Amino acid sequence: MVSRKISIIAPTFNEVGNVIPFIEGVKTALHELDWEILFVDDNSTDGTARKIFEHAHDDTRIRVITRLDDRGLAKSSIQGMLSAKGDLLCVMDADGQHDPSVVRDMISKLDADHLQIVSAARRLDDDRSSDALSPMRQKLSHFGNWLSGLVLGRKLGDPLTGFFLMTRDSFLHVAPRLGDPGFKLLLDILYSDKSLRHAEVPFDFGSRMHGASKLDSHVIWKFVTFLMSKMTGSILPPNLISFLFVGGTGVFIHFSVLYTVLGMSAPFMVAQVAATLVAATSNFLLNNLLTFQDRRLRGLAKFWGYLKFLAVSSVGIVANVSAATLAYERLVHVVFIATLAGIAIDTVWKFVIANRFIWK
Ligand code: GDD
Ligand code: MN
Repeated sequence: MVSRKISIIAPTFNEVGNVIPFIEGVKTALHELDWEILFVDDNSTDGTARKIFEHAHDDTRIRVITRLDDRGLAKSSIQGMLSAKGDLLCVMDADGQHDPSVVRDMISKLDADHLQIVSAARRLDDDRSSDALSPMRQKLSHFGNWLSGLVLGRKLGDPLTGFFLMTRDSFLHVAPRLGDPGFKLLLDILYSDKSLRHAEVPFDFGSRMHGASKLDSHVIWKFVTFLMSKMTGSILPPNLISFLFVGGTGVFIHFSVLYTVLGMSAPFMVAQVAATLVAATSNFLLNNLLTFQDRRLRGLAKFWGYLKFLAVSSVGIVANVSAATLAYERLVHVVFIATLAGIAIDTVWKFVIANRFIWK
């Protein structure tokens, strides 16, 4: 094996019980190689960064980068990869699920086949991995794999793995093109530079040592909108897709409330106002939860944001109606198309304002 520096990039969020065994595991697995570990910690509340610092205070091969105001596995990995000194960069989980001895297999594969990137593919179907992944997570993984295959245009054993190794040069080349895919950085890298010479090595996905997974519904939503954005050829950004989806649920809610209130023999105007208010409120809450999860408003800021959103929505109605009328009178005499034009203008207007002035 040629001697080069290997940087292990390990993003952490609340892994206090895992980081010391992780360090020891890397030391054992890579003992005679030239290596460093870069933890990228999103300001864990359980003292993860302090623990590493105390344990590895005198070891210059081990560093912690702390990010104060942001969360995200992919974003942390990118940050760590950009700050690493190694010729080879390896991203891996610090919770014990990624066996450090696989790093050697990846390096050998990279060298033997003159590759630029090698990923470690989880063996999903055997009995051992079913301990590590719940049946639900396995199903989700299979579905995610299938969708990712569509986006990438080729089938991989495990495009969603979080364990991969690449040359520093090829990473620096692709880095400016990366977005925020939540947890799935590998997929974004392979998508953003299709010329990368890549292969997989299989490995057994272990069980977490301590603590719990951070993969929650927000991470999944981020990934789904990321994939959909790629399917539009990146024309629609992920949060616009999320915004449109929320808008779609709003239309559904609007009609449900409208017919319910009309059913109680209320006047049309009253039903319309009620439907508009309920739909706008639900849109606001859902956007706060999903579309702008990274900039989520809380407390008083949430209340002000809500008032602004209502104001923007009411102006949006005017914009919608005038755009639709204009389109109908000046451009096309088709009600459906003119209405769509109105909705499109309204949505874009709301999205721009929401992005700039509400969830700043
Ligand atoms: N800095 C930072 N910020 N680190 C994070 C964050 C974050 O927001 N979220 C998670 N991590 C760290 C964890 O501390 C852990 O070291 C590693 O990223 C993986 O997180 P887990 O929460 O254990 O993820 P998982 O086991 O559910 O998912 C793993 O397997 C997936 C495939 O099933 C990851 O490797 C994923 O990348 C992979 O897609
Ligand atoms: Mn894990």
